[in-house]
Amino acid sequence: MTNPLISLFTSRRRVVETFTPQRTLADVVLPPQTRLTLEHALAQVRNHALIFGRWGLGDRHTLGRGLAFNFAGPPGTGKTICAEAIAHELGMKLLVVDYAEAESMWIGETPKNIVATFRAAAEQSAVLFFDEADAIAMRRSAGLSMPHDREMNVTVNVLLRELEAFNGIVIFATNLALNFDPAFERRIRTHVLFDMPGVEERARIWELQIHPKKTPLAPDVDFRRLAERYVLSGGDIKNAVIKAAAAAAAEAGPDLGKRICRRHFECAAEEVVSAKSIMQQSLFAGGGVAAPDRFSVWRKVEAQWRSAILVALGLAGTAFVAALAAVALVLLR
Ligand SMILES: Nc1ncnc2c1ncn2[C@@H]1O[C@H](COP(=O)(O)OP(=O)(O)OP(=O)(O)O)[C@@H](O)[C@H]1O
Ligand SMILES: [Mg+2]
Repeated sequence: MTNPLISLFTSRRRVVETFTPQRTLADVVLPPQTRLTLEHALAQVRNHALIFGRWGLGDRHTLGRGLAFNFAGPPGTGKTICAEAIAHELGMKLLVVDYAEAESMWIGETPKNIVATFRAAAEQSAVLFFDEADAIAMRRSAGLSMPHDREMNVTVNVLLRELEAFNGIVIFATNLALNFDPAFERRIRTHVLFDMPGVEERARIWELQIHPKKTPLAPDVDFRRLAERYVLSGGDIKNAVIKAAAAAAAEAGPDLGKRICRRHFECAAEEVVSAKSIMQQSLFAGGGVAAPDRFSVWRKVEAQWRSAILVALGLAGTAFVAALAAVALVLLR
């Protein structure tokens, strides 16, 4: 039998990918509360075999034995790297589904592919990670008026069914946890909130982004100062470090004499801060209204078509009535 996932794995844009995790929890800096919630989540995973195996609960409960976690937080706060670190900690592979990409590629076939993805994770004993999963977590719509709503509802129902039957670990990463479907929320064991890092965490993230031995730093570099001065996410800090290194490397002179100095880091951090504010302006251009996503664009197109069809039907109706009147006139003469 052919595996329906083969086409997903071999497609040019990889929306489903399995890999052996490299990064560990030592590579992630988290605020104490987030770290604690994550430790509890890991303890649940480690005790899973004990509870459902030796203690016999698996024989009593054949459904709902899996562990589902939701990592929620702003971009660049370490959700993806943490999913990788957890799989590493458990000695498992990570099966990543880039959900936002997948949904746009799987139009009309999302439920079938979700089933195949769960099956692949079970076969490979991999931690299943739905990245950018905001759309799945959304409330099922009551109206069911649009084709997209209908497909979304079927998708969420299939996902709930698969989650219920899955006896493994599933992690969802979302930027917005507000719109959660209550049924979906019930099946998620733990929500881990990834907050923006504070000064302490930022200072450690700056340090983690460079190589402790190989990266040439000038003596004036002070990560604590950078952490106090710039409120950035871990992802922003990573970008700033790469920009600073690129600027230092581009300077004239022999490579051996090149150093990344405080000014390189400061310029890079300024650039990242201003790039973020430009992004925010373009996202919220037009009086604080967010730029339309593809579904609102789809709804708009559908609404335009609907009005066009109504106008056409109206015109056809008028023409029909006029024709009837003409026939009646002829007959009455
Ligand atoms: N808490 C953190 N500790 C250490 N490094 C971090 C942390 N957060 C982010 N980083 C760095 O930033 C990079 C991007 O982070 P990651 O992709 O995990 O963020 P994310 O929360 O998944 O973002 P998004 O919501 O945009 O997917 C990581 O590869 C890592 O180098
Ligand atoms: Mg991510």
